[in-house]
Amino acid sequence: MTATEAPPLQLDEIQGIVLRNRPSPYVGTYILLRVDDPGAGRQLMGRLAELVDSAANWWQPDLPALLNVGLTCRGLEALQVPPASLNSFPAEFRQGMAARAELIGDTGESAPARWEPPFGTGQVHVMLSLLATDQESLAVVIERARQAHAQLPGLQTVHRQDFYQLSTGRTSFGYKDGIGNPTIEGSGAESPPGDGSPLKAGEYVLGYRDETGNLPSMPQPAELGRNGTFVAWRKLHTRVAAFRRYLHDNSNSPEEESLLAAKIVGRWQSGAPLILAPEHDDPALGADDQRNNDFLYASDPQGAICPHSAHARRANPRDSEIIGDVRLHRMIRRGTNYGPPLPAGVLDDDGADRGIVFVFIGSQLERQFEFVKSQWLDDGNFTGLGREKDLLTGDNDGTGAFTIPQHPIQRRLHGVERFVITRGGEYFFLPSLSALRWLADVK
Ligand code: HEM
Repeated sequence: MTATEAPPLQLDEIQGIVLRNRPSPYVGTYILLRVDDPGAGRQLMGRLAELVDSAANWWQPDLPALLNVGLTCRGLEALQVPPASLNSFPAEFRQGMAARAELIGDTGESAPARWEPPFGTGQVHVMLSLLATDQESLAVVIERARQAHAQLPGLQTVHRQDFYQLSTGRTSFGYKDGIGNPTIEGSGAESPPGDGSPLKAGEYVLGYRDETGNLPSMPQPAELGRNGTFVAWRKLHTRVAAFRRYLHDNSNSPEEESLLAAKIVGRWQSGAPLILAPEHDDPALGADDQRNNDFLYASDPQGAICPHSAHARRANPRDSEIIGDVRLHRMIRRGTNYGPPLPAGVLDDDGADRGIVFVFIGSQLERQFEFVKSQWLDDGNFTGLGREKDLLTGDNDGTGAFTIPQHPIQRRLHGVERFVITRGGEYFFLPSLSALRWLADVK
């Protein structure tokens, strides 16, 4: 099949988290449930169908709170979704994130055997994602969600993970994040300068044509699959003190330190891209969403300005000469923070658990999330870097390297350790609002 005109997206069917940007500031929590009684689980789906926020009017900024829901494959089984339907889901989703650990670099300290319970144990069935502009509005939506599940005796809360926007608006490592996100055809969003043409809707929502021009296969029946998508949810502990010390030990001045930090990500910590600000940070550029994503890499084929090994250049190589088609591997990211920030300037670990809840959204877990993690972040072959891994997020073990092309001789840092440790994660299916009603009635 070839693509014809893009059908407009059915926004009132798609869950809000797919298209809505978060307010600033925001607070939120993830509530993870186990379904012990199929009837109770189905009742919950019926109630959630009335409570879940859709993507309708996603551009209106005044929504005080957002409630969304995802299910693992074990969760669908717990609702007694028929085997023929379960088998129509992609293999990686059926296996679950823990079973894919070797492939996606969850080894050693990040291995599922060392994850926090209940992750990877089959006990996580339903994820409620609750987000609000402030604690008061969050309390209201938490109460709404509690009423939906608390009086159903066959449901257990197995985990809760709070998250929030740091007062700096940045991540625990100090970088502004969430800048590069695809624009989706048919969503009504306009591409910011530099973003190129919008991505086909089928890359992010099931039931629409994707970048190959085809309708990707979809869980069956269509009522269950259509307008749904997938989430890769990961709790990532960040070793902030060790990262700061690494920057410090490999620099001779604070200026060198911030340049090295920029080379590692491809953006200064303010968000300003190296390609547009090669020598010094430009916070005004970092803050300007009409300019901070308006760049390509063609002018820097050797990586002399932005190394090929920089995190953002690996994760989205744009027009770099690489093996692979970049448009088949773009992802929506809704990452956020947990835990207290490490005070500025501290180079010693204080023992606190802090990090990022990484949230991928896309219709192809394998081709999008797993591919980028395994081929572009945990390997360097695609861009001529051999086995070199991403310094920031790669599954490094202390023997890793980081190559910075520069004249007259390139710089190569050694002894790269693991700065990000996976504490747990799950793959979720994010059903449409109609699919929630279908799940409520499934027999
Ligand atoms: C603790 C873990 C991580 C941290 C601290 C982190 C941090 C960052 C930062 C600071 C940026 C630049 C800002 C931006 O362009 O939005 C970025 C971009 C990006 N990251 Fe990560 N990241 C992490 C994990 C991951 C993972 C696991 C993936 C994919 C599997 C990923 C994929 C991306 C993508 C696709 C971009 C956008 C690149 C672009 O469009 O130019 N990140 N990340």
